[in-house]
Amino acid sequence: MDLAPPSPQAQARTLTVLGLESSCDETAAAILRRAPDGAVTVLADCVLGQTEAHAPFGGVVPEIAARAHAEAMDGLVVLALEAAGLAVSDLDGIAATSGPGLIGGVMAALMTAKGLALGSGKPLIAVNHLEGHALSPRISAPLAFPYLLLLVSGGHTQLLIAEEVGVYHRLGSTLDDAAGEAFDKTAKVMGLGFPGGPALERCAENGDAERFDLPMPLKGKPGCDFSFAGLKTAARQIWDGLEAPTEQDKADLAASVQAAIAAALARRTRRALAIFAERYPATARPMPLVVAGGVAANKAVRAALEGEAGAAGFRLIAPPMKWCTDNAAMIALVGLEKLARGQIDGLDAPARARWPLDAASAQSDPAIGSGRKGPKA
Ligand code: KG4
Ligand code: ZN
Repeated sequence: MDLAPPSPQAQARTLTVLGLESSCDETAAAILRRAPDGAVTVLADCVLGQTEAHAPFGGVVPEIAARAHAEAMDGLVVLALEAAGLAVSDLDGIAATSGPGLIGGVMAALMTAKGLALGSGKPLIAVNHLEGHALSPRISAPLAFPYLLLLVSGGHTQLLIAEEVGVYHRLGSTLDDAAGEAFDKTAKVMGLGFPGGPALERCAENGDAERFDLPMPLKGKPGCDFSFAGLKTAARQIWDGLEAPTEQDKADLAASVQAAIAAALARRTRRALAIFAERYPATARPMPLVVAGGVAANKAVRAALEGEAGAAGFRLIAPPMKWCTDNAAMIALVGLEKLARGQIDGLDAPARARWPLDAASAQSDPAIGSGRKGPKA
């Protein structure tokens, strides 16, 4: 849906919005302010992770996540208001992720926001979590539209063009697992710990990335979609075939898997860079390629993307890690932009497990990821 530009009245006003997030395993509340010229200030940014609660299970357990969100959300709202030195009456709107994500978790933020909106009479803004990620680079620094975004986390792997607030075009997404899931599940099989991505990266440090051959997903296939399930299975088969694996075997397999994931991301992104450059020839050089999501922390992945970006006349932009991973600042930012455009929601706004950002490509190419964190695409 195309959003209208900010109304003259909203544009002339400074707006302050509380954003809430609970779609996966981070409970978060943040307050952002938007000046009439569009400049944003972060007044509060509180995040509570759940790593310890899920670690014994080696992955996110939806029921445990939902309960933890419900228990933590009220306290985080109070913390955020205190940090900003504001009362609910000082806010102009309440924004919450209303999908996509683990439905029990999504409901924690959305119901809290509805309660606050009902009690205070402030407008509710129901936010698509993916739009939060898409706008996240604009929290820390001005970034002109259009730009290309690679979103790589435990729940999502997507290539998107952000054309304007509210206008996104999805070039591709994963057909099966997200990239973070391939890291996490391989790490789990190898007994490296949870969360698996950072553990696998550490293990790979002294490994030989060329020792084990892994398949290149979707090799030669057109388009910008991703697939990581085959790679993950191949890694498990190699692991199962190793008799009494040594530390060196572990490091070599971790390095090989990491290199294969980085190469797969880079190769598909290369196609998206070409599409973007053709579609927006007038974009100032170097053109922006933004990478967001937890997997953006991986040095091998960053190096591979930097190589692709540089070769194609792009510059790789990675928001600070705290806004790369799940957070509420990005949800408050979407809330501000929608509120400034008069886009508010009724108290009957539904919680949605699935909610494609770009309805047009969802219909023509309904690729749905179904990873450990639930369907996200
Ligand atoms: O964005 P995020 O915090 O949460 C969502 O999934 O929404 O991303 C978490 C994912 C996990 O799969 C985690 O293993 C992965 O990002 N990750 C990494 C690294 N740090 C986090 N993967 C590879 N290398 C890392 N250094
Ligand atoms: Zn996310």
